This record gives sequence, C-alpha cells and structure tokens, in this order.
Amino acid sequence: MKLTGALATGALAIVSGVVLSGCITMAAGQRHEIPVAPAEYLDMVNPVDYEKVDEDFLKKTGRLYKRKCRKCHGEQGDGKGPNAGFFVIKPAAFSAPGYLAQRKDGQLFWIMMNGSEGTEMAPVGPDSDVGLSEEKLWQLIAYMRRVFTR
Ligand code: HEC
Repeated sequence: MKLTGALATGALAIVSGVVLSGCITMAAGQRHEIPVAPAEYLDMVNPVDYEKVDEDFLKKTGRLYKRKCRKCHGEQGDGKGPNAGFFVIKPAAFSAPGYLAQRKDGQLFWIMMNGSEGTEMAPVGPDSDVGLSEEKLWQLIAYMRRVFTR
C-alpha cells in the first residue's frame, strides 16, 4: 500500500514535470526577442537628411510602406496589419511608446536587409525577392520614425 502510494506520487511528479516544462517551453516561445544588429550596423547613419523630410517625402514613402509593409506592421505602425493575426511571432509595433526611440536606424536597416530568422520578417533589401534599394530602406526608416514615433 505504502509502495503504491509512493509510485503514484512519483508518477504524479513526472506528469506535472512534463506539463510544467511544456509550459516553460511555450513561455520561452512567447518571449522571443528581435535579434540585435552587429555593432557596425548600429553605428550606421541614415543618409536621409531628416531636416528635408517634408510632406512630399512622407506621401511618396508612405505609399511604398503601404504596399510592402502595411499588411503586417499595420497602416499606423502598430503591428496589427491584416496578416498579423496569423503569426506566432507578431510584427514589430513601431508605434508602441518608446519603441523607436530605443532603436537605432542601423538596427532597423539590418533587420530589413537580413530579415529575422524564424519569423515572417523576410529580407526586403536589394538581394531579396522584394528587392528594395538600400536608398529606399533608409527612406522607409525615416518615414517610420517620423510618422510612428510615440
Ligand atoms: C509578412 C509580414 C511582414 C512584412 C510584409 C514585413 N514585416 Fe517587418 N516584421 C515582421 C515580423 C513578424 C517582425 C518581428 C520579427 C521578430 O520578432 O524577430 C518584423 C520586424 C521588423 C523590424 C525589426 C524592428 C526592430 O526592432 O529591430 C523592422 C525594422 C521591420 N520589420 C521593417 C519592415 C519593413 C520596412 C517592411 C516593409 C518593407 C516590413 N517590415 C514588412 C513581419 C513583416
């Protein structure tokens, strides 16, 4: 009788251990963080002159953003584009308070050039299927910073 009790307790411990580690694995999946760019990218300076970002620039670059990025990142940059609901790892929400202030242009550029492995963020630079020039990438960054910073 005692032995059965001990066995039952042991089995229960194993089962709860498995359940628990399953939960931890799931939580780890949700804690995914966007990889940080190498130092040489973080040091890059956006060639776009922010002083010259005017209505015309925002209109033109906004059209490109809407064509290529909106479906995931959302028109308002809140990460809630029409496709976002399908993804386990959600698109970055550029308009979250402090989000862009904490990130350098070179970080954004690096992710746009290389994508983020294991997520829906594919490379969008010159060598990718999307094929945007480096100039366009920098323009998009200036657009996002100007329009989405909170
Ligand atoms: C198919 C969906 C999808 C599209 C289209 C898409 N993205 Fe993303 N993007 C993501 C996801 C998902 C992440 C989050 C990656 C992660 O968490 O590692 C992301 C992350 C990013 C980041 C990383 C931000 C940071 O903090 O480092 C940048 C920058 C970015 N996207 C820019 C763009 C731009 C610009 C476009 C349009 C040219 C675009 N994305 C199009 C899904 C998408």
